[in-house]
Amino acid sequence: MPASPGRLCSLLLLLGFSLGSCSSLPPFDLLYADGGRAYFAQDWPRAAELLQRSLHSYARLQDARRQCQRGCQAEAGWAARPPLGQPWETGFFDRVLQRAECLEECLGRRLDGQPSLHRASAEIQQDFEEREPYNYLQVAFFKLKRLDEAVSSAHTFFVANPQHLQMREDMEKYQRMAGVKAESFRDLEAMPHWVAYEAGLHHYSADDYQQAVAELEESLGEGLLALQDCRALCEGLQEEEEEEEETQLGLYEAIAAHYIQVLKCRQKCVLDISTKPGRVSSVEDFIPSHFDLLQFAYDQVGNQALAAECAATYLLFYPSDERMLEKMKQYRTALGAEAPVVPREVIRSYVQRSLMEKKLIYYAVEHLGETFDDPDPWTPEELIPESMKAKHREDQERQRLEAPDMEQQQPQRQRGPLPFEGVTIAMDSQQLNGSQRVVLDRVLTESECKDVLRLAKAAGGSGDGYRGRRSPHTPHERFEGLTVLKALQLAEEGTVNWRDAKLLLQASEKSREIVESYFTPEKKLYFSFTHLVCRTAAEGEQEGRMDLSHPVHADNCLLDPEGNTCWKEPPAYIYRDYSAILYLNDDFQGGNLFFTEMDAVTVTAQVRPKCGRLVAFSSGGENPHGVWAVTRGRRCAIALWYTTSPEHSEQERAQAEELVKQKEAEQEESHLDDKENAEAGRSTGDSPEPPAPKGRARSAGRRSKQHSESGVQSKGQQTRDEL
Ligand SMILES: *[C@@H]1O[C@H](CO)[C@@H](O)[C@H](O)[C@H]1NC(C)=O
Repeated sequence: MPASPGRLCSLLLLLGFSLGSCSSLPPFDLLYADGGRAYFAQDWPRAAELLQRSLHSYARLQDARRQCQRGCQAEAGWAARPPLGQPWETGFFDRVLQRAECLEECLGRRLDGQPSLHRASAEIQQDFEEREPYNYLQVAFFKLKRLDEAVSSAHTFFVANPQHLQMREDMEKYQRMAGVKAESFRDLEAMPHWVAYEAGLHHYSADDYQQAVAELEESLGEGLLALQDCRALCEGLQEEEEEEEETQLGLYEAIAAHYIQVLKCRQKCVLDISTKPGRVSSVEDFIPSHFDLLQFAYDQVGNQALAAECAATYLLFYPSDERMLEKMKQYRTALGAEAPVVPREVIRSYVQRSLMEKKLIYYAVEHLGETFDDPDPWTPEELIPESMKAKHREDQERQRLEAPDMEQQQPQRQRGPLPFEGVTIAMDSQQLNGSQRVVLDRVLTESECKDVLRLAKAAGGSGDGYRGRRSPHTPHERFEGLTVLKALQLAEEGTVNWRDAKLLLQASEKSREIVESYFTPEKKLYFSFTHLVCRTAAEGEQEGRMDLSHPVHADNCLLDPEGNTCWKEPPAYIYRDYSAILYLNDDFQGGNLFFTEMDAVTVTAQVRPKCGRLVAFSSGGENPHGVWAVTRGRRCAIALWYTTSPEHSEQERAQAEELVKQKEAEQEESHLDDKENAEAGRSTGDSPEPPAPKGRARSAGRRSKQHSESGVQSKGQQTRDEL
């Protein structure tokens, strides 16, 4: 076989020749491997060049695939019938072969070489999807003193890997570093639709509808393009997975199986585009919700014709949505009979195509033993096979019964893997017999739990701000609470270990990110209040205790068991949206958390605390909860509340973070330490080991003004804030 330019090129590359002499696109995985070698040899200029080229090559390959799928699709006329007298099979395969040829030719042309050269292993493919090359790249750029590129590479990686602790430390250092500009923190792989979507929501909630309309239209347009790209790539990426099994299948079975895989992949694309990089959950109903927002915004800016068009388009997804039908009626009346209202054509064909795909997939589910997690909540009932329907209805009914306050709630869909290595979902809402609840394990390691417990103990012993007192809820327990800021202040005074206090801060931030990622994929969560709380059974007096350690309550509303409702009004903390408890130990008796119905007596689920277990739930009337009596020993946990409104975010938190920043700036001259950086590329982020304290600064007096202010604030809150 004659050496193709592509093969020759890779050969040259492997032999270490300069890449400038290659005209064809070098395979990205070879460039990546060579870049990695240069990196570990600390040849920074070469590492930076090769890694950049690998990213470039990867981007061009993806682009070529998309272009070719699109180009070849246009040529294949699927609707055409086979010539008379020929069996349908011949006509069908004739087109299949033509299309395969078209793709092969197109890719070869665009890549200047053989398409097969560009097939990388699944592992490397995944590295690129997770933006791993940027992790190496930032170090190489830093070594080369190309700060702007170092920071943008680091930021690009961090956006998709917010759990990466080494990178977090690096980011913090970059932020403190002199000469780093705010503009350098940019996402080089930013998806245009997310940028526009977030801007759109921002303007929308600020009642700036003119701007909201512009941004949301852009986000919709870009989102649909991203969807198209994602779908196009579905045809090429199945090669590796299924091969072994399919060798057992006959022609038609194999084709059917492969085709269904491609259809499922295409259907799943809607989740891909509605999941922000670095998040677990997707934004529900990403495309339909655009039209809901747009119809309202257009109406607000006085453009009823477009408002009506958007309402009509929304109805393509939910044809019997009463609220929207009502609006439609109003628009029609306002516009008059001469102005017919037509939904958007691009969405009409999107819905039609999606329904056709679903139909085929559901056929395979029913008759070929396939499985399918439909990503869309709007799929009409009549499309779903009877066998799946019963289950579907059950789920919906349960959701309705258990979340009467949340009309908008849709059945919860399966979520992807958590972006936190090691953390596992132990129970979801369904297993917890409710809605908007989750239990996650391994958020902290055993040794981290010990460190935080040591902090609680040391702070308790200090007699400073962490006084054991009787529980406000029961005379049989002692109750102690410590805020993050107080812990850091005690550390500054030298009363507790600085590292333990910082761990409390880090553990609460990690929990915040997990809860945000799990429950609010499109919104940021802010801290509302955080404290470390221990409750200890008093000696004696425990026989036959009937009281609770914490009576049943909901976190953001006043529970009214008689009225079977929950009043969202002060003095409840109405702006709290999510609650979480991170447990530290299990060596005590009693003390289980439990959920009840709105009647405050019917227990629906129980959770046993243990080290590293995080329970999180929405703070409303759908989640009344309490704590059984602690009858022996001491139960410690970090209690956390979050809000989606920045104006209600906790001031103390900002002070605590500021304190850490100052302290660390004192401790180190602003530079990235060499050892840490050499490791940055390979660090997996699963051992949240905070940096060892580098000496104990005693500057307790300096911030004393803030101390007293925050002390007052937290004391006022404490009585109702424990859990
Ligand atoms: C959910 O309810 C079932 C049936 O009542 C019960 O067996 C199960 O323990 C409950 N789940 C939890 C986590 O308590």
